[in-house]
Amino acid sequence: MEDVLARTLPAAEIAPQRLHAAMRYAALGGGKRIRPLLTFAAGQVAGAHEDRLEIAAAAVEMIHAYSLVHDDLPCMDDDVLRRGKPTVHVEFDEATALLVGDGLQSLAFQLLAQYPLAQDAHKQLEMVTLLAVASGSRGMAGGQAIDLASVGKTLTLPELELMHIHKTGALIRAAVMLGALCGQLSDTKMAKLDHFAKCIGLAFQVVDDVLDAEASTATLGKTAGKDAEQNKPTYVSVLGVTDAKNLAETLRQDAQDALEGFGNKAQRLRALADFIVLRSF
Ligand code: IPE
Ligand code: IPE
Ligand code: MG
Ligand code: MG
Ligand code: MG
Repeated sequence: MEDVLARTLPAAEIAPQRLHAAMRYAALGGGKRIRPLLTFAAGQVAGAHEDRLEIAAAAVEMIHAYSLVHDDLPCMDDDVLRRGKPTVHVEFDEATALLVGDGLQSLAFQLLAQYPLAQDAHKQLEMVTLLAVASGSRGMAGGQAIDLASVGKTLTLPELELMHIHKTGALIRAAVMLGALCGQLSDTKMAKLDHFAKCIGLAFQVVDDVLDAEASTATLGKTAGKDAEQNKPTYVSVLGVTDAKNLAETLRQDAQDALEGFGNKAQRLRALADFIVLRSF
């Protein structure tokens, strides 16, 4: 993924150099690459070619990297550390961080439009639409809006779930579905994969909340304890650590059940579902 991103991002020597350097700083050299891994693993289930998967995976990771840059801005979570490095607005400046998000988001859609990823244009347009919905106000950006509007509030469990499904679940679901759409899968299997993706998408943010409360800044590569400090409603603040962990475990089981009948081809997807819940960073 590192290599694909390095090739698809504009070189730092190309004007405007500072913006391109900042885009590369944001997207390269860090991160768990969970979303690209999910795209590849879902693509394996659907028999997709690697040439297609790497483009779809890069597009999703660019949207994700952009969301992190904006999430860290002073007007949002105001974080100084990301992926073990100073955040983009600290290393560069706020305006550049804003533009890095703009640039990465546009490049993601350029990739989806520019490279052949599906057997016909209709299916490829479906992929573009899928990522657009997942990233926009009905997906990630909308979830971020709910997150900011919820500071200092006590959310009910359904409200919290709605926020997490949007801000994190939507893009994780898109990562899985885009991988599958690069190949061929029956409607029944697509529906099962969709359920799998929704379970791990929610689980991912539940675990992110737990780690924010329990892990160290050194392990996470981002400032720990921020949610409590900033008075954010999370699964930890609403349910407590133990029940949050139990919920993540239930979601992991649901995700694994959804892949029943997928055979050996789904081994990597199963491993990723386990990693998402059992990870320590
Ligand atoms: C962090 O995502 C932001 C959330 C959506 C919770 P990741 O934990 O996947 O961040 P990286 O890509 O590994 O840095
Ligand atoms: C971030 O959620 C979700 C997105 C970036 C869309 P958080 O604010 O919890 O992510 P971290 O903990 O800063 O990585
Ligand atoms: Mg946030
Ligand atoms: Mg944050
Ligand atoms: Mg967090």
